[in-house]
Amino acid sequence: MCPDSSSQIETVLQEERVFKPSPSAIAKSNIKGIEQYQQMVEAAKSDPENFWGEAALKELHWFKPFQSVLDWSNPPFAKWFEGGKTNVAYNCLDRHVKQGLGNKVAIIWEGEPGEVRRITYQELFEEVCRVSNALKEIGIRKGDLVALYMPMVPEAAMAMLACARIGAPHSVVFGGFSSEALRDRLNDGEAKAVITADGGFRKDKIVSLKNAVDAALVDGSCPSVKSVLVVRRTCADVSFFPGRDYWWHEIVPIQSIECPPEHMDSEDRLFVLYTSGSTGKPKGVVHTTSGYNLWAHLTFKWIFDVQKDDVYWCTADVGWITGHSYIVYGPLSNGTTTVMYEGVPRPSNPGAFWDVIQKHKINIFYTAPTAIRAFMKSGRSIPDKYDLTSLRLLGTVGEPINPEAWMWYREVIGANNCPIVDTWWQTETGGVMISPLPGAVATKPGSATLPLPGIEADVVNADGDPVGANQGGYLIVKRPWPGMMRTVHGNSQRFRESYWEYLKPINGNLVYFAGDGARRDDDGYFWIMGRVDDVINVSGHRLGTMEIESALVSHDSVAEAAVVGKPDDLKGESVVAFVSLESGKESSDELVAILKEHVSKEIGAIARPDDIRFTNALPKTRSGKIMRRLLRALASGEEVKGDTSTLEDRNVLDELRK
Ligand code: WTA
Repeated sequence: MCPDSSSQIETVLQEERVFKPSPSAIAKSNIKGIEQYQQMVEAAKSDPENFWGEAALKELHWFKPFQSVLDWSNPPFAKWFEGGKTNVAYNCLDRHVKQGLGNKVAIIWEGEPGEVRRITYQELFEEVCRVSNALKEIGIRKGDLVALYMPMVPEAAMAMLACARIGAPHSVVFGGFSSEALRDRLNDGEAKAVITADGGFRKDKIVSLKNAVDAALVDGSCPSVKSVLVVRRTCADVSFFPGRDYWWHEIVPIQSIECPPEHMDSEDRLFVLYTSGSTGKPKGVVHTTSGYNLWAHLTFKWIFDVQKDDVYWCTADVGWITGHSYIVYGPLSNGTTTVMYEGVPRPSNPGAFWDVIQKHKINIFYTAPTAIRAFMKSGRSIPDKYDLTSLRLLGTVGEPINPEAWMWYREVIGANNCPIVDTWWQTETGGVMISPLPGAVATKPGSATLPLPGIEADVVNADGDPVGANQGGYLIVKRPWPGMMRTVHGNSQRFRESYWEYLKPINGNLVYFAGDGARRDDDGYFWIMGRVDDVINVSGHRLGTMEIESALVSHDSVAEAAVVGKPDDLKGESVVAFVSLESGKESSDELVAILKEHVSKEIGAIARPDDIRFTNALPKTRSGKIMRRLLRALASGEEVKGDTSTLEDRNVLDELRK
């Protein structure tokens, strides 16, 4: 189970390039030099409660101060900043407007067909108040869960902030998920309302979001959902159900801009966000008010080293945690100008990203390694046509970045002038955990470098013993941190078992493990090696192999399916499915196409298998467990190494090899 791929280790060991922050960069940074970083690490280690308590008082507004910093008396269920009352929307909007930042641009939005909107903090504040009142008018109360199924338009951020303002937790569902996947999430969370749009523009096409919502709700299949608020975006013809559906443009503009923020308890839920694990259906990761707010705020400030007039752009979608923490909450809580972009680079517009950087003079750019690898492949002549000199800092997230892509990013996009922050984190961690601080930590291509102050990360073996330098193991976190997930929605046992009891306690203390393997080098730098569980990472999108298997098996031709990831130069991993058919069903190219389409329909196009291979039987142990290790090797065309003695029927392997 532990990652020990010798080829990966070799690549890492050969990497000796180190890039130190320049003296001028250090002078301009908020956290100046490695000594200041080390002082922070020391302060957080020697008295964590004091460290986080001071940060929370300094960085957030409190209607009522908290009485205790951390209650860890019932691990892994943490309570942070208890007794305190705050409001995340207030921290993102009201306090900036009150401090005279009303005319500063909060959101620059670049629409897919090329339109631009600039929304100031004052305007965003007023619009969020109107949306909040509209939500109340359609029956949403404090504590009600509101689902969002939106394209990348400013209304998505407004809706999130409006939910936060009135104390209704949100559950954003990525607009690329299918109506089936949406329905599962609506029912699991018992959402009271859905906020959507008539459609969205994606890659020269229109996606019919409203139709998907109608399909998810058809015939009372989501009984908790009482209302649907619809933003007009594409002007596509959509059905409208009076009494359930409301147009945003009819109901929001008529509202008052007076909407006092709810005084929320620190541990009130801010949002639920579904993510894939190695077992069962996607889990609703629960984040709460103050701890999450502090984590998104602080990590954004530290890692992106924000300065007063920075224009910052993260290319994620608000449907993922990266969009939550680093398009909406982190930047706005810091009063930064954040860019939202509706499009994605595509063959008809390969320079799209560089055009946005040039046009809006972006200073800080945060994207995924998969995008960088795709740009690298189409050559530097495309970015070279654009003026990218506004850039000061570059970031990556979502998957390991290979040193070649890191160097290309640095040289071609950053003109050898911009530090790169490779940020490791997860939906569950709320914000970044391991990353360089640009004015303090020297970087190495392919390494996320060092944990942030207050994060005690380590690499251990299955017994919980730290592994030596340059050896692979499980990446763990040994102490609670403010932005940690609080539970799995509706299933606290799953939270405990999947994350905190997967590995044995260390010195009697539970440790957090969420599926990644890593190693540390002689300097203590972390090198993330990818998932060691049955989760695959396709273009930075996290998918559970079991979800795709369930989708395949739900087709009546399929008896059994096993899904594995296969290394892919561009996407990181591609999806390979081994399928055995019900007796009497014949394999054919047509069936391959049908099954691929079926997975798209069940989950969404991101989960569509790249390759489907038919087999009479799957390799299993005598106790009936599918031996994925063998399938992974077969999918990648590698030789099957290691012990195959537990295989129930060795003929299966021979058949699969054929
Ligand atoms: C992977 C995305 C290597 C990792 C923020 C993790 C990374 C999963 C990095 C979480 C990185 C994220 N280097 N791997 N810098 N960042 N990952 O929940 O496998 O969508 O467990 O959160 O992405 O994916 P999630």
